[in-house]
Amino acid sequence: MFSRSSSTSFTLVCLSTTMQTVLAAADTDYTQYVNVFMGTTGGGNRFPGVVGSPFAMTKLGPDVQSGRTDAYSGYLPDGNIWGFSMTHESGTGGAPKYGVVSQMPAVGNVPNPLADLSQGRAVPDEGQVGYYKSSLNNGVTIELGATDHAGLYQYTFPSGSPSSIVVDVSHVLPSFRGLGWEQHYTKGNFNLVSDDHYEGSGTYNNGWNLSPDWTLYFCGKFNQKPTSSETFTGTGNTLSSYGNTSTVSGTERLGGVFTFDSANLTSRVGISFISSEQACQNLDNEIQPKTTLQSLITKAKKAWNSEILSKIEVAGGSDADTQLLYSSLLGMFMIPSNKTGENPGWSSEEPYYDDIFTFWDTHRCHTALFHILEPVAYEEFIRSLIDIWRHDGFLPDARSSNYNGRVQGGSNADNVLADAYVKGIRGAVNWDDGYSAMKTDAEKTPPNNFDPKSPESSTKEGRGALPDWLKYGYITPAFNRAVSRAVEYSTNDFGLYQVAKGLGLQYDEDTYLTRSRNWRNHWNPAATSTNHSGFMVPRRADGSFVPQDPLSCGGCYWGDQYYEDNPWVYSLNAIHDVYTMKEYIGGDEKFIDRVDKLWDLRIFNAGNEPSFTSPYLYNFVKGAQWRSVDRSRGIGNLYNAGPSGLPGNSDAGAMEANILWQMVGLYPMTGQTTFLVLSPWFPSLTIHLGNGKSLKITTTGGNKDTAYYVQSLEVNGEPWDKAWVSWDDVFANGGTMDFVLGSSPVDWATGELPPSPASSDLQG
Ligand SMILES: *[C@@H]1O[C@H](CO)[C@@H](O)[C@H](O)[C@H]1NC(C)=O
Ligand SMILES: *[C@@H]1O[C@H](CO)[C@@H](O)[C@H](O)[C@H]1NC(C)=O
Ligand SMILES: *[C@@H]1O[C@H](CO)[C@@H](O)[C@H](O)[C@H]1NC(C)=O
Ligand SMILES: *[C@@H]1O[C@H](CO)[C@@H](O)[C@H](O)[C@H]1NC(C)=O
Repeated sequence: MFSRSSSTSFTLVCLSTTMQTVLAAADTDYTQYVNVFMGTTGGGNRFPGVVGSPFAMTKLGPDVQSGRTDAYSGYLPDGNIWGFSMTHESGTGGAPKYGVVSQMPAVGNVPNPLADLSQGRAVPDEGQVGYYKSSLNNGVTIELGATDHAGLYQYTFPSGSPSSIVVDVSHVLPSFRGLGWEQHYTKGNFNLVSDDHYEGSGTYNNGWNLSPDWTLYFCGKFNQKPTSSETFTGTGNTLSSYGNTSTVSGTERLGGVFTFDSANLTSRVGISFISSEQACQNLDNEIQPKTTLQSLITKAKKAWNSEILSKIEVAGGSDADTQLLYSSLLGMFMIPSNKTGENPGWSSEEPYYDDIFTFWDTHRCHTALFHILEPVAYEEFIRSLIDIWRHDGFLPDARSSNYNGRVQGGSNADNVLADAYVKGIRGAVNWDDGYSAMKTDAEKTPPNNFDPKSPESSTKEGRGALPDWLKYGYITPAFNRAVSRAVEYSTNDFGLYQVAKGLGLQYDEDTYLTRSRNWRNHWNPAATSTNHSGFMVPRRADGSFVPQDPLSCGGCYWGDQYYEDNPWVYSLNAIHDVYTMKEYIGGDEKFIDRVDKLWDLRIFNAGNEPSFTSPYLYNFVKGAQWRSVDRSRGIGNLYNAGPSGLPGNSDAGAMEANILWQMVGLYPMTGQTTFLVLSPWFPSLTIHLGNGKSLKITTTGGNKDTAYYVQSLEVNGEPWDKAWVSWDDVFANGGTMDFVLGSSPVDWATGELPPSPASSDLQG
């Protein structure tokens, strides 16, 4: 069990011995290596509460207020708890989402349930996989457990006073950033079905994705009869009514207060996006009156062990690295949410997943690992994306509360679908529809949603700047984020090329390959910076380049020409066309220096996704693979399993997926079958791929921290001289990779360079 303050110093009993013992994966409780507080502070914004199984819709945890600090996933280490709610979105930036369907305990009778009932914590919160505990200053202890669509609150009150529970339907996580992304409660209803059973719904809107009203239904039951059950309504902190009216509804704040004469009390709550009947059904299916907290914890651990954590087995690593591995795996799979059967938008035979936040973050390396570790869920996820297109008209780039939004750069679901396609995901996926969905992104301008942050084109879905892309083959400053959108649109079109090729659509294949090279139209060879020339810059309709300092991205935000990173970074993002980047930059040595400069000039930000692939582009130069390994280790040093162990927002687990790839010693080139070879962290690491297949990776001769350069590599028992492997080499049917590591670089990767598929038109 972890507490917030001791989580970095806990000890593992005989970890190495345990790990080296040959155990069937199912016998090992990997949750013992998980710190649920990893990445919850210092901007990581991860959710530490209870997620009863991977992809569960319920995320039950504390909501904390601390001045005007945004609590993105509800939790903050300091500040007062003002409720425990059933829904959260882990790891995001932007603005808090959800935090609805809450309960808050109070000691004694509650004269005004609209007053501030928040409480500080007597001791730091504790948590483990499937369990969360808060001890409040007023002596109340709350322990939480959860299932897919329901949660259990177990309360222990101080004896001697009545014990009260307040259910405030207007409870929703606020945002204080002033960016227009705060959530609003718009209306609700609350019905006392009997003294110890309530049902109702709350309706909310906005948040980062600017979503219109959405409604969540709830069904709560207590394990004993209250001495009183009352409903209330009011505005601000002022009550309009407070009494035993059995039903209240409307746009005022409203809810119920339950008072008990017992010190120990359990509340079960079910949720549903469909109806309160379904919320009750979910509750009764998943948490029965006699269900114990302990049985939920056991079930949650079992689910996380069998579905996620046991998919990677390691031996011989340090305790810290093992903790980082399993804590990262947990963080990687906090969202999306499997909402199959819980889609209020349409009914369909297809699965339904929500809480994609966002592909801008996850398409580079998260989705590729999601596919490998959870192939069953991933196929459902891909089908769900295509079904969203069928019914909403566009694939999401981000989505939550059943609403697409928002798009920061390109339509990166195209890259995700392409990645799935080239790696052979077929099953029940309808790829004709999948390709039509991608084609919608590539050919149909989405209706403008008039986002105040970028009113010139849609930020909801699709490619807002498509008119310029089609007309000029680049994006003029008439559109915001023109340059960063352009490089992403290029990779998106490369995704269409990949799928068109597979489907035998020759015309489209040619068209989209050509379009995938359009990033080149932003390349100004005369733009210079720090001994380098040639950068992607804004370009006007008349073809002229806009003067641009490659070290600056202006405000780097929604209304600027580059989003969240500068020309140096975006000019290395055409990862499907690396040979062209290399030629434009001036050849191998200049290319190496260009990547080096990201560090020399302090541009590189391990916490920001546009930088994710750049550190490993050295693999595209003969003899330079060791430089990627150096960068990989440097990035690894920025992570740990502690509360501030993420170098940026978790971003739906993108940050965790990134470190997991470093540990594996590979990095995926999204949309392609290529994986760049780095240097694995563990003497032995096995990824279970399903159907009895596995990829087993070993290292000998070196040391993860001090002697980590690749000396030689064998793949599937054969000597290997390439700084990359393909899907077919090691993942399609499993395989082995045996590394010899040492303390100084060796020129081992003398073979063929990694593919650069869009560079096929390069002369000479
Ligand atoms: C409300 O309370 C009054 C007084 O205690 C009682 O007579 C009445 O039956 C209650 N009504 C309901 C709906 O519980
Ligand atoms: C209440 O819960 C506490 C802590 O779990 C336990 O020690 C105590 O025995 C319980 N009391 C009753 C009356 O069940
Ligand atoms: C997603 O949810 C549906 C409905 O509960 C279920 O049938 C399906 O197995 C779930 N998928 C995964 C991967 O758990
Ligand atoms: C630029 O190149 C010159 C000549 O090669 C070198 O002396 C100088 O240090 C370089 N400047 C930077 C900032 O790299």
